[in-house]
Amino acid sequence: MPGPEKRKYAMAIEHSNIDYSERIPNNVDLSGNRRLQRALESWQPNYIKWWQELGPDRSTGFDVYLRTAISVERDGWANFGFVKMPEYRWGIFLAKPDLDRKITFGDHKGEPAWQDVPGEYRAPLRRLIVTQGDTEPASVEQQNHLGATCPSLYDLRNLFQINVEEGRHLWAMVYLLHAYFGRDGREEADMLLERHSGDADKPRILGAFNEPTPDWLSYYMFTYFTDRDGKYQLAALAESGFDPLARTCQFMLTEEAHHMFVGETGIMRVVQRTCEVMKEVWSEDPKRVREGGAVDLDTMQRYINLHFTVSVDLFGQEISTNAATYFSSGLKGRYLESRLDDDHRLTDSLWPVHLVQDGRIVLEDWPALTAVNERLRDDYVKDSQRGIDRWNGVLESHGVDFRFTLPHRFFNRHIGTSAGINVSPHGEVISESEWQAQQGAWLPSAEDQAFVGSLMNRVTELGKIAAWIAPPVRGIDGKPWDYEYVRFN
Ligand SMILES: [Fe+2]
Ligand SMILES: [Fe+2]
Repeated sequence: MPGPEKRKYAMAIEHSNIDYSERIPNNVDLSGNRRLQRALESWQPNYIKWWQELGPDRSTGFDVYLRTAISVERDGWANFGFVKMPEYRWGIFLAKPDLDRKITFGDHKGEPAWQDVPGEYRAPLRRLIVTQGDTEPASVEQQNHLGATCPSLYDLRNLFQINVEEGRHLWAMVYLLHAYFGRDGREEADMLLERHSGDADKPRILGAFNEPTPDWLSYYMFTYFTDRDGKYQLAALAESGFDPLARTCQFMLTEEAHHMFVGETGIMRVVQRTCEVMKEVWSEDPKRVREGGAVDLDTMQRYINLHFTVSVDLFGQEISTNAATYFSSGLKGRYLESRLDDDHRLTDSLWPVHLVQDGRIVLEDWPALTAVNERLRDDYVKDSQRGIDRWNGVLESHGVDFRFTLPHRFFNRHIGTSAGINVSPHGEVISESEWQAQQGAWLPSAEDQAFVGSLMNRVTELGKIAAWIAPPVRGIDGKPWDYEYVRFN
């Protein structure tokens, strides 16, 4: 290896291991920057206070089988062991640097990636980081009471794992704010602990993160559909020309995969159990299925409709000059930007966009630059369909004719061109009276929610699971599903 190559190699190795001997575990050489270290150490107690007040209820004082990253290398990630939850070591982990990394899109394409914030992009970059950062503690707040009704120890452990990782995602964004945005960054970091999900005075920034997650069916839907929005936002930010943001998001994506897995397999297990109950009661009638103690398929479809639509809203306006600016400035790319085969500047290409015009839904070509939000949503919709297909596979294997579908992307929207317009799940624009008449068949009613709520009972005995959900096929880290993942002692 020639001299400069060797030096780069040594630097990359240094950055892959995480130093756990420090108060804030990190792989960013925090001890080499005393001011930053002190600033983050003074934010840390506020974070712990927030976790104790608004983090998972009744999660203190017992051992949970959690994974903790010890290195950002592939094999350093899945390090499992029993941890008492408030003692979880939240830290700052960035993916290894690529020392030759270039900006791959926008007006700065081909220039070296920025290691510092370019002055002219300071405000939009901060806004992107704050908006992402705000969702992380929000989801912990939304889920904080679910431990009281967990269907099994396995599920309780997964809930806690996701909670600590969303907490770590907050740390990831707070690090960027503290390290690169001076005093306003520190103020924004404080605000991330002051806004709260559903708070009337200081709500979270995005609508979906102020909705409650009242039961475990909603929770699996959230982790399937809303964490998947997170995946696409993080993937777009992982392309950023601002290298610390890109590397932070690359590592966050490795954690996000588990969250979506919990959602996808969670819903699959509910479907599995419902199929079993339909056999037991010799009926597919929703009423009989409910009497048999399972969630009927129509109710599940309504939950899918709700959570899908709340999540597609998160991608923003179909035509967006803000998104165009983020893209041409090199701040936020497209999904898998570097693998796309085009000019990566979008100067004169077009993209087909769904729009509502004169009461009709049309697909119209727009400058691709202003349509990057919609393009990301297209990727998301395609990806969301995969779970639907897998759940339908369970129905098929039980000889059930019912099939789940994704609603039309304009159904029940509150953001974008179809906001305020009534669109059926099949994509027809309908009148207000039709909407009122049908809404109960399309979205969870108060009665559906009360029924699902009535199934939620805490099951924490070893080897036991709630009657409305099937056990998982596999456990965590090669353990059986009924392993003692949580030890109350
Ligand atoms: Fe997250
Ligand atoms: Fe997540």
